[in-house]
Amino acid sequence: MKHIGILTSGGDCPGLNAAIRGVGKAGMGNFDMKFLGFRNGFNGLCHDQTIPLGREMLSGILTDGGTILGTSRDKPHKMPVGGKNRDMTDEIVDVYERHHLDALVCLGGGGTQKNALRLKNAGLNVVTLPKTIDKDVYGTDVTFGFDTALGIATEAIDRIHSTATSHNRVIVVEIMGHRAGWLALESGIAGGADVVLIPEIPYETEVIAEAIKDRSRAGKHFSIIAVAEGAMTGDQAERMETLTRQKQNASNKEEKTEASREMSEFHSEHVRHTQELTSKLEELTGCESRLTILGHIQRGGTPSPVDRVLATRLGATCAQYLADGGHGDMMAVRDSEITPVPLEKIAGKKNLVDPDHSLVESGRLVGTCFGDG
Ligand code: F6P
Repeated sequence: MKHIGILTSGGDCPGLNAAIRGVGKAGMGNFDMKFLGFRNGFNGLCHDQTIPLGREMLSGILTDGGTILGTSRDKPHKMPVGGKNRDMTDEIVDVYERHHLDALVCLGGGGTQKNALRLKNAGLNVVTLPKTIDKDVYGTDVTFGFDTALGIATEAIDRIHSTATSHNRVIVVEIMGHRAGWLALESGIAGGADVVLIPEIPYETEVIAEAIKDRSRAGKHFSIIAVAEGAMTGDQAERMETLTRQKQNASNKEEKTEASREMSEFHSEHVRHTQELTSKLEELTGCESRLTILGHIQRGGTPSPVDRVLATRLGATCAQYLADGGHGDMMAVRDSEITPVPLEKIAGKKNLVDPDHSLVESGRLVGTCFGDG
C-alpha cells in the first residue's frame, strides 16, 4: 500500500475538490493507496494538522467550490510561527517521514510550484497539479479554476452592458489578475468590452479617453472597460521595472530591505488604480463613470463542467502516475494531453499574455482598444 499526503495551497479556486476527489478515488479504487489530507496548505503540513481522506470524505464534493482541506499562502521556508517567519522545511520533512508518506500531492498555482520544488530538493517525493483562476502557471496550457472564473467575469460584463447603456455611462470592471491578464483578456473579449487593459500591455489613460469619445461621436454613449488588477500605465510599468531591477541588484541587507519597502509601497498605492482610472476617464470624457470590482466572487461557487472534467482528469492521471512510481513533476496539460513536467522547468516562471498573442490581435481587429498607442 502507498501512503499519499495531499494539500491545497495559495488562493482557492473552483475545481480543487474535484481534483482531490479525482486523485483519491482513482488511487483508492485502483492502486491500493491511502490518503492523508493536510489542513491549510503548507501550514498544516509543518504543524502536522491532518484530515483523514477516506471514501466518505470524497463523496459529494465534485460540485463544491473552495477546498475541503482549507488553504493558505504560507510558504515552508517563511512560515509565520510565534510572530516571526521561520524556515520550517526540516519540520515538514519530519512530518512527512512520521506519516511514512510515499509522496505528497500539492494542488496550487505558481507559488506552490516553487514551494514544491523546495520540498523536492529537501528529499520529498512531490507531485503538483496546476490550479488558479489566473491561468498563469508556466508549462501548462490550462489550469483548473480558470474556466469557471471566466464564466463569472463574462456574465458580469454581460450584465454591466444593460445598465451602462441605460445610463449612458462608462463602467470600469476590475477583474482579478495581478501579473497575468488572461482572465481580463478572455472575459473582455467574450463580453464585448470596448477596452481591455492587462498588465502585459501598458496603457495611457488619454488613449482610452479618445476611444470613448470616438464611440460617443459614433452615437454609442456608453463604454465598458475590462481592467485587470495589475494593469499599469506606461509610467507605472517603468517604475515597476526600476523597482524590480533595484530589488534584483541589491547587494546587502539594507538595500534589499529598502527595495522591498519601496516595492510594497508601490503595490499598496497601485491597489487604488482602477478608482483613479475611473475618475480620470470621467474628467477627460465628461461621461459619467463608475467602477465595479468583481473581487472574490470570481473565485467562489461551483466549478464549471469544463473545470470539473479537467480537475478529474488531472487527479486521476496523477494517481496513475504515482502508482507507476512517478514524482518530482507537475501534471501539465499540453495540446489536450496530460504530461508530467519537471518542477525545475516551471518553478519561478509565469505564463503571461504575449502582447502579440492572436487573441489580442483578434481583439484589435474587432475594434477592442488595449489602451496602447
Ligand atoms: O492567485 C489568484 C488570485 O485570485 C489573483 O487573481 C488575485 O490577485 C489574488 O489571488 C487575490 O488574493 P487573495 O486571496 O490574497 O485576496
